[in-house]
Amino acid sequence: MAEKCLAMKDGKKFPENFIWGTATSSYQIEGAFDVDGKGLSVWDTHSHTMGKIKNQDNGDRACNHYFLWKEDFKLLKDLGVNAYRFSTSWTRIFPRGTETKPNMLGLDFYSRIVDSLLENDISPFLTINHWDIPQGIEDLGGWPNRNVIDHYLHYAYWLSKHLGDRVKNWITHNEPWCISYKGYIEGEFPPGIKNNWTKSIATTHHLLLSHGMAIPEIKSNSLSANVGITLNLTPGIPASSSEYDIDECAKFDGVFNRMYLDPLYKKSYPQDIFDWLLKDNLIKKSDLEIIFDNDLKTISTETDFLGVNYYSRAIVRNKKVPKEKNLPVEIKTGNKTDFGWEIHPDSFYKLLIRIKNDYSLKKIYITENGCSYKIGPDKNKIINDNKRIEYHNTHLLSLKKAIDSGVPCEGYFAWSLLDNFEWCEGFGQRFGLVWVDFDSLERIPKNSFFWYRDLILRNGG
Ligand code: FCB
Repeated sequence: MAEKCLAMKDGKKFPENFIWGTATSSYQIEGAFDVDGKGLSVWDTHSHTMGKIKNQDNGDRACNHYFLWKEDFKLLKDLGVNAYRFSTSWTRIFPRGTETKPNMLGLDFYSRIVDSLLENDISPFLTINHWDIPQGIEDLGGWPNRNVIDHYLHYAYWLSKHLGDRVKNWITHNEPWCISYKGYIEGEFPPGIKNNWTKSIATTHHLLLSHGMAIPEIKSNSLSANVGITLNLTPGIPASSSEYDIDECAKFDGVFNRMYLDPLYKKSYPQDIFDWLLKDNLIKKSDLEIIFDNDLKTISTETDFLGVNYYSRAIVRNKKVPKEKNLPVEIKTGNKTDFGWEIHPDSFYKLLIRIKNDYSLKKIYITENGCSYKIGPDKNKIINDNKRIEYHNTHLLSLKKAIDSGVPCEGYFAWSLLDNFEWCEGFGQRFGLVWVDFDSLERIPKNSFFWYRDLILRNGG
């Protein structure tokens, strides 16, 4: 049984005061996309565009959390978490993104949410930007345009001014890699641009710079605030020991991981990545002039914690060399979730050890970890999602091992409380501890919900 496995393999409990939470994001759960003065974000526009999202799903209603949040918070209470990570919707507060004054209806919604969490002894972890930049700012050039930073800071300022007396934990951005790479290289995310390294690098830089600039802004409103950033770190492994695969894997690691960790913690961008992009004419030297003299100093402003999202590792193959010139693939892919993501808890452990050794991190939170399985209710409304239990269990074992080896991790947030709108996959991928019927909006806790509740009660051990 998965549950015993945690106790058996590891008699010890997690550290005292360990934070147990779940995570969500505004666009994925709230719905109410045009209610109370909310403007359109790039995700509204993207999902309303034909062919961008599976089944043409969108977040117009999603889990209807905007209206059902009290019911959802009862679930949180039953689950027994001591923290909840959520994001605020930028366009509820600044509908076009460029206004001087905020929309108070939007701010008040989050104020009520924060009060209710605190009444239930649940500590709010607020993500300021979980990808939903206002369309109004996108129309001005979006993240590749440095001026966007001013609008972001204005938004962060008003949020912290209004909520900073009660919210102590702030996350400036969620997974900047996704905005930069999926938005400007893969083109799957808004604004749907492909292979534009110039814009991708500018996006990365402006996201990181705005993070550094937001830290004092938030702290000026909330003196005891802890401010961090969440990265989706993905360890790569070369598919074979050929020089091609090894080289490809170094590039993968540079673009995915070092491009964010190095500027934040070492005050520099990975030069090998810039050299490669220049050599292959993917960028021009002048493209790097967007990095001004003091920018890296600002980016590396001391951050109180790093949020780590971990789902899987990547087996990296150089697909440009003909197969016969390369060595055969040596790495075997393990079991996969319904999303097709490989389950590899040992890579989670290794990743944590690596970042502890390579970057001097004071504090880490695992701000997301979870898996997608479609398993739904049987005729008695029981949802027997043992595979999800197994996933969380094995990853928590890796986390415990990492903590025992000195990784300063102080909390774990399961992704996600609810099944929700999984971006380009629409409602097809279900990550929730709670099942959501997207027609009737009924919520049913899955077996993993009860398993997690018991684990929290025991503090893991
Ligand atoms: C992460 C996102 C989150 C969710 C999970 C499955 O990349 O931060 O919103 O979609 O993946």
